[in-house]
Amino acid sequence: MQVLPPTDAGIALAADHLRRGGVVGMPTETVYGLAAVAFDAAAIARVFAAKDRPLFDPLIAHVAPPDGPPLDALRGVADPSALGPLARRRLEALAALWPGPLTLVLPKDPAIPDLATAGLPTVGVRMPAHPVAERLIRAVGAPLVAPSANRFGAISPTTAAAVVAELDGRVPMVLDGGPCAVGLESAVVALDPDGGARLLRPGGLSREVLERAIGGPLSAGGDLREAPGQSASHYAPRKPLRLLPGPLDEVPDPVLRALGADGPVALLRVVGEPAAGAARLARAGVEVVAAEALAADGDLARAARRLFAALRELDAGPARVLLAEPAPHEHGLGHAIADRLRRAAAPRR
Ligand code: TXA
Ligand code: MG
Repeated sequence: MQVLPPTDAGIALAADHLRRGGVVGMPTETVYGLAAVAFDAAAIARVFAAKDRPLFDPLIAHVAPPDGPPLDALRGVADPSALGPLARRRLEALAALWPGPLTLVLPKDPAIPDLATAGLPTVGVRMPAHPVAERLIRAVGAPLVAPSANRFGAISPTTAAAVVAELDGRVPMVLDGGPCAVGLESAVVALDPDGGARLLRPGGLSREVLERAIGGPLSAGGDLREAPGQSASHYAPRKPLRLLPGPLDEVPDPVLRALGADGPVALLRVVGEPAAGAARLARAGVEVVAAEALAADGDLARAARRLFAALRELDAGPARVLLAEPAPHEHGLGHAIADRLRRAAAPRR
């Protein structure tokens, strides 16, 4: 796979490939995506094939900031005319958070092929806050669908090198936009015509920020039919990952020994000191060969940025089992971090 620099020449090359129906790895502020022109059904089929992604899991369309009013960004992608007055107000309030790690699920415009949305009458739309993504979308002159650039069910890539590791031989090029600043995927919010708003996936914008914007509570996500990509097992390393039932200091020795029985283990803490965690496991009789804290200082933005890269590194290291301590709480970014760790630990298909 060719790793292209984010220069005018690199972007022109990628844009040309996309216009000819190709697929390209693209940086965003959340994770790297695998992009194709959103109006091109054959190109969209190539995205599903490159990822081994089942066709029932819909893609997100990425748009650039418009020259006119913010909702012009939706033109040809989503059709807000079916939304009632409350939904309309909430759409404006949520779109004001763009560009950023927020995907809005809205009634679909017929110009988007059914393949992109897995036959659903709705489409996910997002305006990424990344200069390279924005320049690429503008250069192509069309919205780009892009799922995360990993094999289906695997860990999302947050560097161009991780895209190469996931998709080398299947995708011809990736634009290198540096490490992702947010590090986990966008929050996905479905806006219903009556104004109801549902959080289908916690992500890089917190529930608290979203609820302040809409002036009311978000209801819980839909079922699997409404949010088809939210299968329990996802973000999975190759090695087994076991999530501790609580903070490391509160888990009894026999439970730690049972979870670490097929060791040696690598310990992943969200916050706190890695060495103190490794010592706690050693005292319980668990063999530890690696320990990492995503943010020893407790900064959950730093923890989110580091999460997927840390999972990749521990997966490639000498441990046979990964033991993860849960997020310290589920407020702000803690919600999305907790969600990703639960899915990484869920039983595999
Ligand atoms: O941050 C992100 O959102 C990244 C970057 C590349 O933009 N993209 C991403 O795409 O995470 P993907 O395909 O890995 O996850 C999209 C999620 C899936 O769970 C999918 O089921 C859901 O959004 N989704 C997309 N369109 C939907 C729709 N019309 N209705 C319900 N869920 C939808
Ligand atoms: Mg994904």
